Parts: sequence; C-alpha cells; structure tokens
Amino acid sequence: MKIAVIGSGYVGLVTGACFADLGVDVVCVDSNTDKVQRLQRGEIPIYEPGLNTMVEQAVANERLQFTTDIAQAVAGRSIVFIAVGTPSSEDGSADLGHVLQAAQAIGQTIDGFTVVVDKSTVPVGTADRVHAVIARQLQERGVQHAFVVASNPEFLKEGAAIDDFMRPDRVVLGLPPGELGLKARALLDDLYAPLTRNHQRTLYMDVRSAELTKYAANAMLATRISFMNELANLADVVGADIESVRQGIGSDRRIGYDFLYAGLGYGGSCLPKDIRALRDTGRQYGVRLGVIDAVEEANAHQKKVLLQKITTRLGEDLTGCHFALWGLAFKPNTDDMRDAPSRYVVRELLRRGATVCGYDPAAMAEAHHAFVHDLADQPDWLARLRLTESADAALAGADALVILTEWKAFRTPHFGKLRAALRQPLVFDGRNLYPPHRMQAEGFEYHAIGRCG
Ligand code: UGA
Repeated sequence: MKIAVIGSGYVGLVTGACFADLGVDVVCVDSNTDKVQRLQRGEIPIYEPGLNTMVEQAVANERLQFTTDIAQAVAGRSIVFIAVGTPSSEDGSADLGHVLQAAQAIGQTIDGFTVVVDKSTVPVGTADRVHAVIARQLQERGVQHAFVVASNPEFLKEGAAIDDFMRPDRVVLGLPPGELGLKARALLDDLYAPLTRNHQRTLYMDVRSAELTKYAANAMLATRISFMNELANLADVVGADIESVRQGIGSDRRIGYDFLYAGLGYGGSCLPKDIRALRDTGRQYGVRLGVIDAVEEANAHQKKVLLQKITTRLGEDLTGCHFALWGLAFKPNTDDMRDAPSRYVVRELLRRGATVCGYDPAAMAEAHHAFVHDLADQPDWLARLRLTESADAALAGADALVILTEWKAFRTPHFGKLRAALRQPLVFDGRNLYPPHRMQAEGFEYHAIGRCG
C-alpha cells in the first residue's frame, strides 16, 4: 500500500513513521525546505520518545521518504492524509488556510481514485469544504477522478505518541454514504488492519460526527482538568486534600482515574486551541456552550494560582528574590513549549523583579526560543532569566524552588541536598509531586495545589 501524508509536524510525522513501520510505503510532505532536508538526514525536529529510531529505520528500509513536492508525493497514492496545522485565528476559530491549500494541491494532482483523509483537528464541516476545493480543481483541469474525503481524527498524546498510535483505544473513521464511501472504508480498513485486526477497534460514522468526536474528546479531557482544578482551589481553603479526593472519585468506574490531576491548568498545542475552536463553532451556529466557556475561564484562572501562592508568601515585589524552576515544557516527555504554564510564571516572576534560573530535561532549546520571543519587549527582564543544564545547577542560591512540569527525574530528589542548596527550604509545586507530610518531615515549607493549604 502507498500513502502520502501532507504536513510533517507532530501528527503527520508520527502517522507517517508509524505506518512505514507497519510496512506501508509512505511519503511525507512539508512545505518547509529546511525541515524536509533535516528529516532526509534523519534529524527529527521534535522530541518524542522512540520517534528518532523509528524514522531512521523506516528511511533506511526505503519505506519512508520526505519531500517538499506535493505533486510528486500525491501522484499514484490511493490514500492521502492531510495532517497540516490548524492554529487558532485571532477570534479563536481554527485557521484552515493550510488545510485548504493542501486540498487545492491534491485537486491539482490526483490521477485516479483517491481517499483524502483529514487527520488534522478541523471544525465540523471542513471535509465538505475540502471536497469542494478538490472538485473545483478537477473541474478546472477538465478531469473526472472519483475521490472521497474522510475524517480520521488523531488521538495521540505528545510524549506517548507512538504507543498511542500503535495501540489505539479506537480508530474513528468518518465516511460519506454510498458506494464511494464503502470503497474508501475498504482501503482504510486495510491500512489500519495491523492495528485493529485482533480487536475490533474501528468506529465507523458519518464525517461530521467524526469531526465533532475529536473536539468532544479534547473538551471532555479539558473539562475534567478544569473541574479538578476548581475543586483543588476549594480544597486549599477548606483544608481538604485533592489527592485523596482524586482517588475517592476515580475509584468510581463511571468516573475513572485519568485526567483528574489538579495543577497549573492545561496547556500544549491541542486542548487550549481546540476549546477555543469549539467555542467558536458554538458561536457560529448560535448554540450556547456554557460548560465549555466555563472550562476555558477556569483554565485562565488556574494559570495564576501558583503565582498567587508565591506572592502571598513572599510579597508582590519580588526584587532580590531568586527562583529555581524545575520543568519548562507544558508536560513531561516533550520539548513542546506551546501554551506552557512556565511562560506565564516566568514572565510574572520577572515582572515583579525576581531573578529566575530554569531547567528542563528536554525543552532547553525550545524554552530559550520561547522566552526570547515572549520577552522581546522586555530586555531588562530577559536579562534576569538564566537557563541551566541541570536540575542541581538551577537550585544554587535560590530562595525557593518552583516546580512546573512533572518530569520523572523530579519525583524522587535527594531532599537533604535540595534543602542544602536552597537559601530557605521553600518549595512551590504546581504539579503536586510530593506528599505534604513527607515534605514537612524533611523540613520544607511546601505549597502545592489543593493539598491542605
Ligand atoms: C491531547 C489529548 O490528550 C490527545 O488525546 C489528543 O490527541 C491531543 O491533545 C491532540 O489533540 O492532538 P496533548 O496535548 O499531547 O494531548 O497532552 P495531554 O496529555 O492531553 O495534556 C494536556 C494538558 O493537560 C497538559 O498541560 C497537562 O499538563 C494537562 N493535564 C493533563 C492536567 O493538568 N491534568 C491531568 O490530569 C492531565
């Protein structure tokens, strides 16, 4: 089987590499020449455990190629995935510019029956727009090739992307009715067979339901997180422990344990963007989405909670205070800094006059770019920020440790050394890594999220 994947960002690259690993002949396309050249040399532009080796092997086995030439990539391929970015526009709606450009290029190129698959997260109705663009191109070319636009949203998590792809909870296939839809279904079933044949994991539905399913999944996850964050803020005030509450409700099988961790608010490239896009869809259709509105509002508030704890303890003016930061990426096992809570916390600490020394096990280069970008208007603040190469080095002489990402490496520190390195035994933990009673026994003043004060 031969497929093309347009867009070699997170989703496209993982999709292409994983299918190639399963024996499919894959060509990945990207418009960024520099990125394609780096990929051709085997350099992976993102940090994702296992992806490097997988791409290397697939390229060596000649099952995975990279190109900037969409026409060359699409020609002769029966399945073409669109996996380009859909960033938020100013008004919160998903910017479909790249998706529709890809559709246009597909329409200019296809030379036989083709299944075009939207893998990017796109608002309901996008497949119809993609269909219209391709149809117009075919008409302009004066050719009549049959094609189908299907929706096959991706549910992989950064940091666990390969495992999520290779062992999916479900494969959602949104297909149009009729014979062409059935033909597309047969091709996609073949493609996904290695992942689904032992357990029936494919869910067939109409295209619009598949498109909405993706937003529904991310919105449900975001809702759980915001719900727990609000309860954690309440727990702080009433003297309860959100970790006990999490276990207390997670044990109810109807609720389950996942995505109930309180913290700094959800970030990353998906949940915030998708919530904004879903709100925009509600606005467009005049449908009230009150829960979704509240989820986003709660998340905006949650970003401020740890900082409030810091200023309540140390004062609004933090001039002369030096902070060590552990964790900069929006979550562990990624170098992704998009919508990372660290960006807010760093800016606010610097604004109040503090000096900051940060460390992240994977995101140092990305963090450097992000902070230089964020603080371009404030060179004096930027001068008070330093990034170091180790967790220990970040601690030296700090008045307090602030934990922003729950990397495994931070979970079991040598508490004696930690205490000795800090000027005062003060820890602000936005990820609830340690039991408060243990921290107390170790002589720390410990401020976490929803853990009894
Ligand atoms: C998310 C979804 O989990 C994936 O299923 C989906 O495919 C992906 O978006 C996407 O749309 O492409 P991802 O953004 O990689 O994946 O990260 P998550 O693991 O979902 O974490 C999102 C945010 O929620 C992070 O900031 C994380 O720290 C936060 N979070 C997560 C919590 O605050 N508490 C939790 O219990 C879980």
